[in-house]
Amino acid sequence: MMKKLVVLIAFASLTAGASMALAGSAPKTGINGSWHDINYAGQLGTASYKADQYQRTCAFCHTPHNALPNGLVPAPLWNHAPSNVHLDPYVWASPLNATIAMNADPLIGPSRLCMACHDGVAAVDSHGSAGSFNGGNTVMAASYTDALGNTAKRYINDLTVTHPIGFKWDEAVSARTDGNQLVLKSFGFIADNALAYSTTAATFDTNTRSLTYSTKKIQDTLYQGYFTCASCHDVHNSVNAAPAPGATNSYNYFLYAQEEGSAICLSCHIK
Ligand code: HEC
Ligand code: HEC
Ligand code: HEC
Ligand code: HEC
Repeated sequence: MMKKLVVLIAFASLTAGASMALAGSAPKTGINGSWHDINYAGQLGTASYKADQYQRTCAFCHTPHNALPNGLVPAPLWNHAPSNVHLDPYVWASPLNATIAMNADPLIGPSRLCMACHDGVAAVDSHGSAGSFNGGNTVMAASYTDALGNTAKRYINDLTVTHPIGFKWDEAVSARTDGNQLVLKSFGFIADNALAYSTTAATFDTNTRSLTYSTKKIQDTLYQGYFTCASCHDVHNSVNAAPAPGATNSYNYFLYAQEEGSAICLSCHIK
């Protein structure tokens, strides 16, 4: 009996693995073959980006030499046409957050690097001048078919309706005088499956924080203390969360913690 159960579970995880592989962007498997491999032919939607002549993958974002002097200082050996968009920041709705200052450029730090492809204006398949390689000029589509098969908006052109970015974590902590609303930034993100989320029983209490955590700490994701796109997303697809075992969908949003039970949100917010 026991043996049969083990076999069944093994089969279930095998098939879950297989559907994930079909989705083309398995979490934690690195850049190559992920949504962030611009050579990868199976990109979301119908966009067909121009591949690099050497099939290099890092080259769409980084170069060892002659990085672009594009004003993105400090940018890590950046090799992609910059995003020049200027967007209005999020406006705080929670009264206690009202005093948290937004940086003059809410896209400070890596957020602006993300927007070099995700703003819907800059060509995704452009890359820099190192060597004689020609980049493409395909911009990100406005919408795509998501992991659940529905149409979703893709590029980001309105920060007023996106989770706040471009503010300092420490200022947020001091503004929240209504108790411990945020975890300590020395905490790691909630580890895969640690939340044991169930719709039938309250099997977790996030206030006790007696969970297991990923080695990726919140403080590691802050840029000069600022909260950015990279505070939630792992651009390199290396230490991000995988969907819970048995999940019927195969999302990979490059998130530092799972969607199930909103582990990603509860990694920072005590709610
Ligand atoms: C889609 C764009 C993109 C691709 C492709 C990419 N990177 Fe990055 N990389 C970034 C961004 C953005 C940062 C800024 C750090 C951050 O906040 O995540 C970064 C930072 C880094 C850093 C310094 C910080 C860190 O995380 O260690 C290294 C090293 C690095 N990348 C190496 C690589 C290598 C090697 C490859 C190819 C295997 C690669 N990257 C591919 C976007 C990319
Ligand atoms: C070199 C271009 C490039 C850069 C830079 C880049 N991305 Fe992407 N990203 C893409 C492409 C291409 C896709 C796949 C969607 C598509 O085909 O257009 C994607 C997909 C994603 C997805 C998954 C979408 C989904 O529905 O599963 C997330 C999340 C994401 N990127 C976040 C980021 C963040 C955060 C940054 C900055 C830290 C970043 N990206 C930087 C090109 C880029
Ligand atoms: C507070 C955490 C957080 C921040 C900050 C954040 N995201 Fe996301 N992002 C998510 C989550 C969670 C999802 C998964 C979709 C969902 O649950 O609604 C997602 C989904 C996405 C997707 C795929 C779906 C879509 O809407 O296209 C892209 C692309 C993306 N994010 C890019 C970005 C970029 C670029 C930034 C910065 C401008 C950013 N994200 C900032 C949490 C965040
Ligand atoms: C990496 C840490 C982090 C993650 C992950 C995160 N947040 Fe936040 N969030 C913050 C911080 C810091 C603030 C500002 C202080 C506060 O409101 O506690 C904030 C603010 C907010 C606000 C208040 C906005 C306002 O107008 O005052 C809401 C709502 C929110 N987050 C929801 C979410 C949801 C939902 C998720 C998951 C999709 C999420 N957050 C994920 C750190 C995070």
